Amino acid sequence: MEGLWGGRFGEGMADAMIPLNRSLNVDYRLWPHDVRGSQAWARALVRAGVLTSEEGITLVSGLEKVAETLTEQDFSEAQDEDIHSLVERLLREEVGPIAGKLHTGRSRNDQVATDFRLWGMEAGHEVTDFIHDLLSSFRSLAERSLEIILPGHTHLQQAQPIRGAHWALSHFWPLLRDRDRFIQAGIAASSLPLGSGALAGCPFPIDREWLREALGFQRISENSLDAVSDRDWAVEMAFAGALLGVHLSRLGEDLVLFSSREFGYLKLPEGFCTGSSLMPQKRNPDAAELVRGKTGRLLGNLTGLLTLLKGLPTGYNRDLQEDKELLFDTVDTLLQVLPVMRGVVGMAQFNEESIEKGLDPELLATDIADYLVRKGVPFRESHQVVGKLVREGEEREEPLSQLPFHLFKNLHPAFEEDVRQIFSFESSVEAREVSGGTARGAVEAQLELARQALAAPLG
Ligand code: ARG
Repeated sequence: MEGLWGGRFGEGMADAMIPLNRSLNVDYRLWPHDVRGSQAWARALVRAGVLTSEEGITLVSGLEKVAETLTEQDFSEAQDEDIHSLVERLLREEVGPIAGKLHTGRSRNDQVATDFRLWGMEAGHEVTDFIHDLLSSFRSLAERSLEIILPGHTHLQQAQPIRGAHWALSHFWPLLRDRDRFIQAGIAASSLPLGSGALAGCPFPIDREWLREALGFQRISENSLDAVSDRDWAVEMAFAGALLGVHLSRLGEDLVLFSSREFGYLKLPEGFCTGSSLMPQKRNPDAAELVRGKTGRLLGNLTGLLTLLKGLPTGYNRDLQEDKELLFDTVDTLLQVLPVMRGVVGMAQFNEESIEKGLDPELLATDIADYLVRKGVPFRESHQVVGKLVREGEEREEPLSQLPFHLFKNLHPAFEEDVRQIFSFESSVEAREVSGGTARGAVEAQLELARQALAAPLG
């Protein structure tokens, strides 16, 4: 019964072994790549003089029919072990025993490695495009929040004022790096293993350079033994996914906090929020929480893949069958969460009034210290002085900006009446003109860099 390798066996497979052995439920999605790879292989066999051109045409058009069949409906049966055996069985039903010539010089080891990479190259592009869309929504959020000044945080404590656009763009750059990592992982995938056979290479004069071109790979693998078990590209893609997940989870956390009553900075679009079955007033930021939660599996997939590979002996080992489910899950998860984040960010609105109410003059403490520095006071000393002022304000239960001038003067003679001008959130952000800073000009320049990065052709 075991169509692909039964000759050596006297007995059928044990019932308990069948479901463990079978990977069709996972690798079914590779059928378009398997068909494409097999068509190229049939042509390469013709070019090598192993098949006649008539045989080649029969196989290639038979495979085309298989593709049409599988486009219509899933024709898999319990006997099909994996996508490679399914495609071959359907081909045999289509063209008869000549289907048996297709696997000449090829192994499922180089076949699956090729299919998986073909899929990986596509998946890399798809995720890259989705990240690109999310990046665009951050760019437009930044464009509409240049005027907003909100408290920036360290240790989740109010620290210094920043522009809303500056916060928005602080999520742009990590995502841009993620996009580049996906491009790189796609490039890593783009090395052709086909022609490696089971481990030692193909004994027929296959033109691998022609195969590479036909299948759209950038390079061919250098070593057949390495090629059948090299999953580095998959690890790289899983890593790109894990780190992207970490970034999305941090964004999710910001959105959860910022949309809370306690912060009140952002209003999230209703279509991405849910209510409570019990509390009628609730409007929960579930999208951001679910995205944050999904990061767990992205990290798990990377860890799972690395653990799977660790300590494997040289050559193909069946453990490798487990590689696909993990990376498929990473990509599926990302294709689900990225459009959600895009929707949330694209429609999020800053709540100016409530942000303004939340701006505490203590956010300007550093600016007062810097004021003294400009009057010649060493920063360490001015830091001490302003620390004392803050304490004074706390004791009197008065905001820093309302403290009487003589308190300033008592603490340091360099204070003059013009210190009042420091109590402006606008002046504080405008002081930070340094490139990468939060002043309008610097943020506009940053926004321009973001626009250019989005417009640049992909690597
Ligand atoms: N389904 C297998 C996989 O995903 C295909 C390769 C099988 N090779 C083998 N020698 N049994 O890895």
